[in-house]
Amino acid sequence: MSEMFVVAHISDLHFNGSEHHRSRVESVLHYINSRAEGIDALLITGDLVDRGTAAEYDEAFETIHSPLPTVITIGNHDDREHYNDRFRHDPSLAHANSSLTVNGVQLLLVDSSIPGRAGGYIDDDDLDWLEDQLHDAEPGTPALVAFHHPPVTVHMSYMDTIRQTGEERLAELVDRYPNIVAFLCGHIHSAAVTTFAGRPLCVAPGVSSTLNLPFEGSGVLNEGQPPGIAFHLIGDDNRIVTHFRAVMD
Ligand SMILES: [Fe+2]
Ligand SMILES: [Fe+2]
Repeated sequence: MSEMFVVAHISDLHFNGSEHHRSRVESVLHYINSRAEGIDALLITGDLVDRGTAAEYDEAFETIHSPLPTVITIGNHDDREHYNDRFRHDPSLAHANSSLTVNGVQLLLVDSSIPGRAGGYIDDDDLDWLEDQLHDAEPGTPALVAFHHPPVTVHMSYMDTIRQTGEERLAELVDRYPNIVAFLCGHIHSAAVTTFAGRPLCVAPGVSSTLNLPFEGSGVLNEGQPPGIAFHLIGDDNRIVTHFRAVMD
């Protein structure tokens, strides 16, 4: 690993044909892409689009451009088939898992979406895939494990009803891999930091919108918040430091 590993993490783009959402995505991508020389990868943790239509994926595909190696997984607003058609071009890839090793860090993206459901669950095949990836890596390689749905509650009453469940199976796997540095996710449209299975769990801000905490307002959306990015940095001590950035238009 050169001096420092950096991944730019964005989430919940929710392309829906509106100029508002598209321009927020363009703003964060411009911020990241114009600093690409110092960044190793771009990570997008799902809810690329809002309703899962082919037209929304066309818009997402036309807008998401970066010189960085880019890895994406999907969320509850995504449609696995339309996503695969537009972004992967390989019908054999049933689930949106992917693995990228760059600058000495293994980025592992696991599909936590359940077709037709808002909540999340990593099914057994995908957990097996994750374990295979961890097992086959060079021993001691620092790993970041990313998915859409947080596997813990976050004190957001609706989001807590549609979090990732079955998380004890993931925690059990994680116990065998001390080289997992942190978990990365999205879904709650709120930059947040907590822990899961004894490791940091960092949630990217929502690009399309931010959701209110119970004491912030009675509406669902926190209208005043700009789109944002989480930059996750890993140094020689294999410890994660996350810096959040809000991006003004
Ligand atoms: Fe979302
Ligand atoms: Fe979501």
